Amino acid sequence: MSIVTAWAPGSVSNVSSGFDVLGFAIEEPGDRVTATREDAAGVRITEVRGDDGRLPRGAGENTAGVAARQLLAHRGDPFGVSLVLEKGMPLASGLGSSAASAVAALVAVDALFDSPTPREVLLRCAMEGERIACGTGHADNVAPSLYGGFVLVRGRGESVRVDSLPVPPELWCAVVHPHLEVPTREARSKLPDRVALADAVAQAGNVAALVAGLAVGDTELLASGIEDRFAEPVRTDAVPGFAAAKAAAGDAGACGCGLSGSGPTMFAFAPDRSAAEHVAVAMREALARAGAGDGTDLWISRVGVPGARVL
Ligand code: HSE
Repeated sequence: MSIVTAWAPGSVSNVSSGFDVLGFAIEEPGDRVTATREDAAGVRITEVRGDDGRLPRGAGENTAGVAARQLLAHRGDPFGVSLVLEKGMPLASGLGSSAASAVAALVAVDALFDSPTPREVLLRCAMEGERIACGTGHADNVAPSLYGGFVLVRGRGESVRVDSLPVPPELWCAVVHPHLEVPTREARSKLPDRVALADAVAQAGNVAALVAGLAVGDTELLASGIEDRFAEPVRTDAVPGFAAAKAAAGDAGACGCGLSGSGPTMFAFAPDRSAAEHVAVAMREALARAGAGDGTDLWISRVGVPGARVL
């Protein structure tokens, strides 16, 4: 093939207590990239749509371009590519927007080759995109966007490892995005260098409860593990009404609620679709009362849906 379009989903990373190690794919929103094989070597970004002109067009600055360059280099640069990136996601939203662009570009470019590249290689290429976008090559957005599902990511660089976690089939998620922006790079600059032992112990217990709750389908256990002692305490100030929205989610029947990635988007688990819709509306109302942004986007998704695909 000489031209391929791929789509990659956004993702909820951290999932509160799983800071930098947990993430899951959501049904929408996501990004789309069309890759065209070119005789001239290298990567060119010929068009970016849906970003109001805000994203860099240079292949060395744009996460999609960086990831595509990494992949071509890995494959020996046998041809070049031009990319058209269609942003379907809000920027700086905490939904893995930069990751979705990188992953969609990789899946599209990879389909131009006669044989597929191992997924672990694509993952590492996408992590380089994250490094450009936010300063660190964390994988808790790129891994769920690429692999789909609910994943555990550990290790860095060459030693990164991804494991898929079991998810109860009836688990749904409300994704609530107040119209605010929180660049991940800035959110990471606020993180503490060290955490207290008591917080580390609590966090280990919470993430274990979260994963065990997922594995056995115990939503009460799951909800008890959705508390982050590392990042959320220094990040929720950026979301007016965060505490009220979390309380509203609980009152409306959510089983766990927190920041999606570095925010401002919030996620909440719910035991079925209609509960997730109810929870989302309650959160939106609480955020509106607190004056969080000039509006809110809502998405309702099953948890741990398939990852990126060629269209
Ligand atoms: N784990 C990352 C962070 C995700 O919290 O900084 C960013 O979306």
